[in-house]
Amino acid sequence: MSFFSRIFGVKKTSKPWEREKPLSWRENLQALKSLPRFLKLVWVTHPPMTLANSLLRVLQAGIPVTALYIGKLIIDEVVLLASHTGGDMASMWRYVAFEFALALLSALLSRAVSLMDALLGDLFSNKTSERLIAHAAKLDLPQFEDATFYDKLERARRQTTGRVVLMSQMFTQVQDMITIIFLGAGLVIFNPWLILLLVLAVIPAFLSETYFNQRSYSLARNWTPERRELDYLRYIGASDETAKEMKIFGLADFIRTSFAKLADKYYRANKALAIKRAIWGFVFNGLGDIGYYAAYIVIIFQTIGVPIEVFGITIFSGSDQLTIGDLTFLAGSFSRLRGLLRGILSRFSSIAQNALYLQDLFDFFEMEPKITSTPEALPFPKKIKQGFTFENVTFKYPKTDAYVLKDLSFHLHAGEKLALVGENGAGKTTLVKLLARLYDPDEGRILLDGRDIKEYDLTAYRAAIGVIFQDFVRFHLSASENIAVGRIEAKEDVPRIEEAASLSLADSVISQLPDGLQQRLGRRFNQGVELSGGQWQKIALARAYMRDASLLILDEPTAALDARAEYEVFQRFAELTAGKSAVLISHRFSTVRMADRILVLEGGKRLEMGTHEELHALRGRYAELFELQAEGYR
Ligand SMILES: Nc1ncnc2c1ncn2[C@@H]1O[C@H](COP(=O)(O)OP(=O)(O)O)[C@@H](O)[C@H]1O
Ligand SMILES: [Mg+2]
Repeated sequence: MSFFSRIFGVKKTSKPWEREKPLSWRENLQALKSLPRFLKLVWVTHPPMTLANSLLRVLQAGIPVTALYIGKLIIDEVVLLASHTGGDMASMWRYVAFEFALALLSALLSRAVSLMDALLGDLFSNKTSERLIAHAAKLDLPQFEDATFYDKLERARRQTTGRVVLMSQMFTQVQDMITIIFLGAGLVIFNPWLILLLVLAVIPAFLSETYFNQRSYSLARNWTPERRELDYLRYIGASDETAKEMKIFGLADFIRTSFAKLADKYYRANKALAIKRAIWGFVFNGLGDIGYYAAYIVIIFQTIGVPIEVFGITIFSGSDQLTIGDLTFLAGSFSRLRGLLRGILSRFSSIAQNALYLQDLFDFFEMEPKITSTPEALPFPKKIKQGFTFENVTFKYPKTDAYVLKDLSFHLHAGEKLALVGENGAGKTTLVKLLARLYDPDEGRILLDGRDIKEYDLTAYRAAIGVIFQDFVRFHLSASENIAVGRIEAKEDVPRIEEAASLSLADSVISQLPDGLQQRLGRRFNQGVELSGGQWQKIALARAYMRDASLLILDEPTAALDARAEYEVFQRFAELTAGKSAVLISHRFSTVRMADRILVLEGGKRLEMGTHEELHALRGRYAELFELQAEGYR
């Protein structure tokens, strides 16, 4: 197993390209069930345009049979005129004029229809993307950390633009069906046997199309993890964020060969299928041609006036001979019908396939968050009275074995500043995530003023808690927006943003930016300015001051600041949040000392807890670590 395969949890089999299992008919039909829902989504995107599009297509569906029939009238008239046995020049010209007008109308209609398809498609894909973003925001953090969820998200993301094709396919499908009814009516009037031949001419190709469509869908689906891995390799192989290390460690070859190996496997799997598809497609279409020419022969005999009998069944009695115009009309209708039917049938299987992809999108939309609150949930208290209590809290991350927090109990008083101390991996960040209800404990409870935090309204609860995480997001947006994310409703409130910036010492960073607060940060876009780690932290810290939080948590957001800046930041923080509860995480004891009490975590357990003086007097782990750091400064 390769390094990346392990990361992505990809299981290798000896012949991965043979893994795809075709979907059953049942699964295919099941997928079609999502089509009405899809149509509804298209409809709500823009009702007038959807309606107009449908009406124009019905109109368009009537054109082929009309055109063929006028063509027949023209030919019959011309034959009569040419043999000098009758015919009417004036009506012939009228027919020609009508045929020409029809051609113009058809061109106009098809332009209008494809224009509307394109516009509707754009609107649909925008709306779906919006829904995707909105829905993703509702889901829980644990869901995001799950690889199968990622695959689903990835497939759903691909659906937002890909499904536009499905929309016009479905419209075209209905339109072609109407066209077929019109054309088929003509055939039935002249000779019903032709319909049977038509079906025989089409079915073989349809079956092979359906089969291969299912195979390629299964292949694409089974390979989602690998495709994700390929995307990831492509990304780390060529991105500004990795360029430094790629060069220093000379990783280009390693990444390139990893990519090439995996890409080649996927290519081979695809190739095998594509070749099979081409060969069988040719064979089955050939069978269809036989049906077409049989029908042609029937029509020719009917025009010449020779009776046809097959196995004792009279297909044509010899009376009711066809005209030359009829011959062209029927031959034209038949070939048109064959094309249309073939199109419909192959489109049917491709619609079914697209519908399967659609299923992925709907599956994603149907995923529900587990961390929720009930409608009768408690409002967040205006003023916290007793504070937060951890009661024998035990927690491990989903799909992992090791407990990260074990039987943890402590109390955070209202208005208290608590510092968390512990080695990397001790569980400090996890504790914060539980406190913010990004996860729920496996055992034990977290109480706020004596009630389980699960009983409070989730939105209100999260709104009352401000956390600046260790791995806060560096949004490649403007400096002002980067600060405003702490309270996005206030994004236009410049004085408030400036105030927050000055409290977090970000004002010194902003004053150096060419465009000040409006400066775009990060290198992803033109005119973006990249900041140093410490500068980013000052910006992120300002988010905490934007928020009117009852509980503020700073999870090592100052690690990249120099000792003096960190000291200053925390001093201000303590002054400004006087009376509010706060949790501070830092490895610097000069900062930790400022807290009212200190909780020392080790391996997810509470090791010591007390004031700086108490813990110092205890001469335990805290005192030991404190001495160690003080030693370094002497
Ligand atoms: N999302 C996650 N999924 C699985 N394990 C995790 C996750 N986040 C952290 N861990 C594990 O939980 C433990 C505690 O991590 P963390 O709370 O981040 O520690 P600290 O913040 O004290 O450094 C570590 O062993 C880490 O590997
Ligand atoms: Mg941490």
